[in-house]
Formats: sequence, C-alpha cells, structure tokens
Amino acid sequence: MGDEADADRACSACHREIYERYRLTPMANASGPAVDGFIAADFRHVDSGVHYRLYERDGKAWLSYERDDPARELEGQQELRYFVGSGKRGRTYLFEQQGYWFESPINWYARKGMWDMAPAYQTAHQMPFTLSVDPGCLSCHASGAASSLPDARNHYAGEPFAQGGITCTACHGNAAGHVASRGKVRMVDLNQLEPVRRDSICLQCHLEGEVAVTRAGRRPEAFAPGDDLFDFTVYFVHRSASGSLERATSQWEALLRSQCKQVSGDRMTCTTCHDPHGSPSTEERVAYYREKCVQCHDRPGFLREHHPENPDCAECHMARAAASDIAHEQVTDHWIRRRPGAERAAGATSGALATVGLELADDREFGLAYAQLAERGDRDAAKRAIEFLRRAEERSGTSGDHELHAQLGFLEQVQAHAQAAAGEYRTALRADGYDEIAAGDLALIEAQQRRFAEAIGLLKGVFDRDPGEVGAGMDLAALECGSGQREAAIRTLERVLHFSPDEDRARHMVEEIQTGKQRCEQQR
Ligand code: HEC
Ligand code: HEC
Ligand code: HEC
Ligand code: HEC
Ligand code: HEC
Ligand code: HEC
Ligand code: HEC
Repeated sequence: MGDEADADRACSACHREIYERYRLTPMANASGPAVDGFIAADFRHVDSGVHYRLYERDGKAWLSYERDDPARELEGQQELRYFVGSGKRGRTYLFEQQGYWFESPINWYARKGMWDMAPAYQTAHQMPFTLSVDPGCLSCHASGAASSLPDARNHYAGEPFAQGGITCTACHGNAAGHVASRGKVRMVDLNQLEPVRRDSICLQCHLEGEVAVTRAGRRPEAFAPGDDLFDFTVYFVHRSASGSLERATSQWEALLRSQCKQVSGDRMTCTTCHDPHGSPSTEERVAYYREKCVQCHDRPGFLREHHPENPDCAECHMARAAASDIAHEQVTDHWIRRRPGAERAAGATSGALATVGLELADDREFGLAYAQLAERGDRDAAKRAIEFLRRAEERSGTSGDHELHAQLGFLEQVQAHAQAAAGEYRTALRADGYDEIAAGDLALIEAQQRRFAEAIGLLKGVFDRDPGEVGAGMDLAALECGSGQREAAIRTLERVLHFSPDEDRARHMVEEIQTGKQRCEQQR
C-alpha cells in the first residue's frame, strides 16, 4: 500500500491532537499488511488432524498446513497478505488465489492468547480453505473497500481495499474538498445530523441483526456518512429474543431495549459513552464509563448510597457474556438492566421476526428475511417466507428481482415442487445471469430430469466464475464423469483441490477415477 499507508496523516497538520489519539485505537488498527500484524503460530487442530504454522520468510508472512495421515494427505503453504482484527480481541489473515480472496482457516483469540480454527469451524474435520472475503467484510474492517467483480463476491480486479484500518473518512465523509480548502468546505459534523443519520455512522459497522435484507435497488456499499442506513438495509431480530443476543455486533439492538435509551430517546447514542477518537486505558476505564452514567444518574445522594464499595457501574449493569459469533470472546451486554443475566437464557431462535428499531419493512423484505432463516433449516420460517414473497409478487412487477425469485425457487424446491422451483430459478436467471443459487439449484433439478447437458452448462458457469463454490464443483465433476467426460471430470476435481486442498470428496473421487473404480461412462 506504500505511500497510501496513512491517508489520515493529511488531517494531522490541523487536527494533530485528534489524529495522535485516534491512531492508537483498535478501529484505526483494524487491518493492514500481514507482516505488520504478524503473530507466529504453531498449532495442531485435533478434530481435523491438521498442523498449522505461521511464519515469516523473506519479509513475507506464510501459512503452512500439513497432515501426517497417508490416507488423507495434505501439505502446502500460502502467502498471507493482510491481517484483519487489531488483536485486541482477535485476528485473522487474508490470502489470495487467482484474484479470489479468502480468510485463513485459523484465527488468533487474544483474550485466551491462543490460536484456534476460524469461528464456526472449531470441530471441522477438514481444513476450510474457501472462506470468502466479501466487500461487506472489508467495508467494516478496512477503508476504500473495492467492489468485487460481478462473477463472485470475493473476486477483485486489484487489491481488495485501498487502506488498512478505519480512517477518519469512514465517519466524516469525503475529505478532498475540506483539505483543499484548508477547512472551509465542511466535513460531516455528526452532532449537526438528525439522530438517525448520526446513529447510522456507527451502525454501518456495528449493526448486523439476526438477518439483514438490502432494500430493492440499493447497494449497501454506497452508504456514505450523512445517509440514513435504514434506507439501504433493514435489520431483523426474533421478536422474543433476549436483549444481548450474544452477537458481537448487537450493541444497538441491546441498547434499544434499555430503559436508559427508551426514556432518554435520541439524546442517547453510541458516543454518549464512547469517544470516537480514543479508547480509555485499562486504568482509566472504570472511572471513564462511570462518569458517563453519572451524567444522567445524578440524583442527589444516589452515588453516596448506591454501592459505594464498587465504582464499576458497568460490571453490575452491563455484564459480559460469551459472544457466540466471535468464538472464545466476551462482549459487553449493552442491554442496561437492574440485574442483567436472568433473561439471557431465554434467547429465542425461532418465531416471528421484528425489525430493529421498529423500521418499516415491506412484504418483500420480510419474505427475504424469513427465507434466510429457512436456508438455516427453520421450517416454520419457510412457510412465512412463501406467504410474504407471493404477496410481494402479486402487488408489484417483480420479474427483475432475481433475489426474490431465487428464494421462491429454493422454497418450492424444499417442498419438492420441482417444476415450480425450476420456473422461479429461470426467472431469477433472466434477471441476473450471475445468480449462483438459482443456477446451482436449477442444475440439480435438470440433472434429476436427466437433462445432463443443461445441468453441466449451468454448473460450469457457477464453478468457472466462483471456484469457492466447492459444492457446485463436486456436482459438476459427478455429472461430467456420468456423461463420459472423464478428462473434464478430473480437471474439475483438480480445480476443486487447488482451491480447497483438503476436500475429502474430491480426493476420493480422483482416486476412484484413476484406479478405474469409477469408469466415467456415458449414462443411458
Ligand atoms: C489545513 C487545515 C485542515 C486540514 C488539513 C484538515 N482540516 Fe478539518 N478543519 C479545519 C478547520 C479550520 C476546521 C473548522 C474548525 C472550526 O470551525 O471550529 C475543521 C473542521 C473539521 C471538522 C468539524 C466539522 C467541520 O467541518 O467544521 C471535522 C470533522 C474535520 N475538520 C475533519 C478533518 C479530517 C478528517 C481531515 C483529514 C482528512 C481534516 N479535517 C483536515 C482545518 C483542516
Ligand atoms: C457489519 C460489519 C462487519 C462485518 C460485515 C464483519 N465484521 Fe468483523 N467485526 C465487526 C465489528 C464491529 C467488530 C468488533 C466487535 C466488538 O468488539 O464488539 C468485529 C470483530 C472482528 C474480529 C475481532 C477483532 C478484534 O480484535 O476485535 C475479527 C478477526 C473479524 N471481525 C473478522 C471479520 C471478517 C474476516 C469478516 C468478513 C469475512 C468480518 N469480520 C465481517 C464488524 C464486522
Ligand atoms: C468512529 C467515527 C469517527 C472517526 C473514525 C473519526 N471521528 Fe472525528 N468525530 C466523530 C464524532 C462522533 C464527532 C463528534 C464529536 C463527539 O461527539 O465527540 C467527531 C468530531 C470531530 C471533530 C470536531 C470536534 C472536535 O472534537 O474538534 C474533528 C475536527 C474531528 N472529529 C476530526 C477527526 C479526524 C482528524 C479523524 C481521523 C484522525 C477523525 N475525526 C476520526 C467520529 C469519528
Ligand atoms: C467502518 C466501520 C466502523 C465504523 C464506521 C465504526 N466502527 Fe467501531 N469498530 C469497528 C471495528 C471493525 C472494530 C474492531 C476493531 C478491532 O479491534 O479490530 C470497532 C471497535 C469499536 C470499539 C471497541 C474499541 C475498544 O477499545 O475495544 C468501540 C467502542 C467502537 N468501535 C465504537 C464505535 C462508535 C461509537 C462508532 C461511531 C461513532 C464506530 N465505532 C464506528 C468498525 C467501525
Ligand atoms: C442519557 C442518559 C443516561 C445515561 C448516559 C445512562 N442512563 Fe441509565 N437510565 C436513564 C434513564 C432516563 C432511565 C430510566 C429512569 C430512571 O430509572 O432513572 C435509566 C435507567 C437505568 C437503570 C434501571 C433500568 C431498569 O430496567 O429498571 C439502570 C440500572 C441504569 N439506568 C444504569 C445505567 C448505567 C450503569 C449507565 C452507564 C453505563 C447508565 N445507566 C447511563 C438514563 C441514562
Ligand atoms: C451507556 C453507555 C454505553 C453506550 C450508550 C454504548 N456503550 Fe459500548 N460499551 C460501554 C461499556 C461500559 C463498555 C465496556 C468497556 C470496557 O469494558 O472496556 C462498552 C464496550 C463496547 C465495545 C467493545 C466490545 C465489548 O462489547 O466489550 C464496543 C464495540 C461498543 N461498546 C460499541 C458500542 C456501540 C456501537 C454503541 C452504540 C450502538 C455503544 N457501544 C453504546 C458503554 C456504552
Ligand atoms: C455491585 C453492583 C452494582 C454496582 C457497582 C452498581 N449498581 Fe446499580 N444496581 C445494582 C442492583 C443490584 C440494582 C437493583 C436494586 C433493586 O432492584 O432494588 C441496581 C439498581 C440501579 C438503578 C435503578 C434503581 C435506582 O436506584 O434508581 C440505577 C439507575 C442504577 N443501579 C445505576 C447505577 C449506576 C449509575 C452505578 C455506578 C455509579 C451503579 N448502578 C453501580 C447493582 C449495582
């Protein structure tokens, strides 16, 4: 990244104090070149039997992986290009293969001071090597995130982002005019914005919801400070879910359930308690946050009587819980309560969804939100999704809405309505020829109906454009072999193994083809 390495330096000439303080924060150090954030590793993962090492060689950072088992041979190395995570709580690394970007299979967990598998892969039996790095991930963790190419959400024409860390412009907007005019052209001033636009600036990165749906015709990457985030995306949580929800990016959802926020209204926001330009040191933190509470809880005599033995208000009212999406991590419960903890056990994982912050959502948005839950296996959500999406379809011309039709296709398919599903997938593909879900699932229906050439064509499209779609690659190899295309099947499997070197199914199938157990003869 060379000279671009510190875009914020331009601000230091006139805002020296803020610049110096901000550069020490976890946000300013949220990402960067892998060698700058290098942490050596020598870690053996029990469930998969893979031995990982991270080391430096010739000024570059490398990941190596190997397994001794001769039946499941694995050995290789990969250059790591960037780190993500300041290391305060954790860190992961990014690597690139043929322009496709992936996250390393192992992460550093700071509080425990240990390496382990990436979240959700702790008990995996196989090395996950196709964890894709999409623009959403990068716009929360870096600056100047590039748009990915249309063929895959982790395929970039050049570097995936312009600048490591979160720069001043993430919160204050484009600075060119301001710098050129030496401060006369104003930046976005958060305190001058209407409350929802002010809150949106932090929430662009600190809110994910249980599920999120992009509004029709919007691109989340287009959000800029000063915009209303909820014009771009609508966020949903289960209506009866507990406050903290135990997700790392759930601070807003939790705060909205707090009496402090409900009674204070727009007066309370993230910066009521957090200084955007600096984090308090370990020694300062108790007094720092206590002072924030006392701004409002200043009834005469209250402090003298209320737990004078313990100055740490947050310890009792914002207790820490395990965050389920950052493995091994703790997260501060932003649902401020008299006695936190009791309700947490009741966290709902099914049932009706509600929008975060009572934003309005239409049938399409509710339908797509339930469809995401259906993809995770929630049958009840599948029923609701179909109802909402059909209603959305009736009300307006949706033939150009590939997302809606791909999801309808999926919902029909899980109910074994193959014909109806195929129709929906074709509509989705007419609207967007790149829709991978529609193409991959339509291929399976075509194959069931013994239309192998059509199925192969569709899967080839998916897997050529997106080699991280290992499932499509495997289906393609099976169909190629089944239609007598032995060489093509081997080439496909080799490409699967190039991107996902520990893919047992691919390893096994190559062996069977090479030893003649699978003959790859034309089916009739
Ligand atoms: C040449 C000096 C100069 C540089 C360089 C500069 N600023 Fe400013 N900035 C100013 C002045 C002058 C003000 C107005 C202060 C006031 O009126 O109180 C200002 C005000 C601001 C404000 C408050 C809102 C506003 O516009 O009044 C923000 C935010 C800000 N600057 C951010 C930045 C950022 C971010 C950078 C770097 C990208 C930057 N500035 C670079 C001089 C500069
Ligand atoms: C919606 C924005 C958003 C997206 C998308 C997102 N993250 Fe995060 N991530 C965050 C925030 C905010 C934190 C800090 C959470 C906290 O401390 O409560 C975080 C924390 C982390 C951490 C721990 C860092 C630390 O030291 O605190 C890692 C590592 C990480 N994310 C990696 C990723 C990767 C890799 C992706 C994409 C594949 C991703 N995240 C997607 C917002 C996001
Ligand atoms: C995480 C979001 C965020 C980032 C990053 C950020 N700011 Fe700010 N900035 C704010 C907020 C919010 C305010 C409003 C003041 C407040 O509420 O504390 C503010 C206020 C300001 C102000 C005017 C008020 C003052 O304190 O003088 C200046 C100048 C400023 N920021 C400069 C910068 C510069 C320079 C950088 C980068 C080095 C930067 N900011 C990075 C959120 C941010
Ligand atoms: C561009 C995305 C982005 C924006 C905008 C953003 N944050 Fe963050 N924030 C992050 C990420 C990512 C982390 C985790 C950084 C890490 O440790 O790697 C983080 C960490 C934090 C932390 C934890 C700091 C610590 O000391 O552990 C606080 C507090 C925080 N953000 C508050 C805010 C507030 C308040 C705003 C709005 C004024 C804001 N953030 C805006 C992405 C963002
Ligand atoms: C912007 C003002 C404001 C801030 C800052 C604030 N609160 Fe509150 N808080 C309120 C209001 C208003 C209420 C509801 C009326 C009351 O109980 O005083 C409340 C209620 C509470 C309650 C009772 C909740 C319940 O469900 O009965 C607790 C406990 C509490 N606050 C603790 C805290 C702590 C701890 C902090 C600092 C981490 C804090 N508050 C910061 C305004 C605030
Ligand atoms: C009433 C005060 C208060 C408000 C309002 C508040 N926070 Fe916090 N936040 C805290 C306290 C206290 C901590 C714990 C800090 C510590 O232990 O160092 C914390 C910690 C965090 C952390 C670090 C990770 C963690 O969970 O420990 C992040 C990130 C964060 N807050 C983001 C936000 C965001 C985003 C908002 C707005 C949606 C927000 N906070 C609003 C008081 C508040
Ligand atoms: C040792 C734990 C502990 C500490 C420290 C603590 N509280 Fe509390 N607080 C409680 C408990 C327990 C209750 C509930 C009492 C009840 O239900 O009768 C409570 C009740 C409250 C209430 C609501 C009832 C009321 O009396 O108004 C507020 C507001 C509050 N605390 C604010 C704070 C603030 C602000 C601080 C820091 C200055 C703080 N607390 C420190 C344990 C604590």
